[in-house]
Amino acid sequence: MSMQGKVAVVAAGGSGIGRMTALGLAERGARVAVIDLDKAAAEAVAAEIGGQASAHVADCGVVSELKRVVAEISSLVDHVDILFNNVGMPNPHGIMDITEEQWQRSVDVNLKSGFFLTQLLLPLIRKSGRGGSIVFTSSAAGLVASYTTPLYSLTKAGVIGLAKALAVHLAPEGIRVNAVCPGPVRTPMLAGFMQKDTAFTDEVADLYASRVPLGRVADAREIAEAVIFLASDAASYITGVPFPVDGGYVAQ
Ligand SMILES: NC(=O)c1ccc[n+]([C@@H]2O[C@H](COP(=O)([O-])OP(=O)(O)OC[C@H]3O[C@@H](n4cnc5c(N)ncnc54)[C@H](O)[C@@H]3O)[C@@H](O)[C@H]2O)c1
Repeated sequence: MSMQGKVAVVAAGGSGIGRMTALGLAERGARVAVIDLDKAAAEAVAAEIGGQASAHVADCGVVSELKRVVAEISSLVDHVDILFNNVGMPNPHGIMDITEEQWQRSVDVNLKSGFFLTQLLLPLIRKSGRGGSIVFTSSAAGLVASYTTPLYSLTKAGVIGLAKALAVHLAPEGIRVNAVCPGPVRTPMLAGFMQKDTAFTDEVADLYASRVPLGRVADAREIAEAVIFLASDAASYITGVPFPVDGGYVAQ
């Protein structure tokens, strides 16, 4: 899965799945632009990659910030081959506890971010003249009900609908669009799905692992490898697919 000569944009690339994907794309030869809300995290990943990697700070749930960041990226590269729309946030509340503000923020971060980043980057993707690949991060919770959060299932199911619609819309241009659907992954976010205020611990991992047929939570690299496959020419006939990487979770 060589990425030599490719330009990739990784949104929420400062930690977890995004960080491992940015590193994996760069290892295979891609030039990577890392976007994250957390400036230090984005800069750390770009520094870890070195070379021409760049760091960009934005709250991707805010369209004006996306416009600024796309202008920054446009000043550095003349085209984009790969876009990883990985921004997302958990919401640990049940139906009776979700406020309008929480609803709006989840929709902005989980849905609006990827929609508008795609819209804004499409001119640069089209400029490559050789198609492209867009990967969204949905979730197993976008395919089946989440134990803890209807709002997360709602937004992550929306991501799959968006990926399918874009796949059909962009297929004539050779731009493929897919959505990876991770099960539980060992990242700082995992504990955020739980209602009590808790940090990531082995206890949290064990709780999730007990619901996964493979009997463990994923390492972020295992999700990143699937994203890199979908982004690569090895997946040249795959588009419009929700792609579970979940240890068998949705097969149950
Ligand atoms: N960890 C899991 O179990 C799991 C499972 C399924 C899906 N996901 C999805 O995977 C994606 C990545 O999550 P992760 O587990 O790697 O989390 P993580 O906590 O390791 O990293 C999330 C990154 O996103 C950044 N971020 C948060 N809000 C942002 C915003 N508004 N704009 C820009 N950047 C922002 C954070 O600063 C952080 O660097 C998310 O979309 C998440 O919903 C995670």
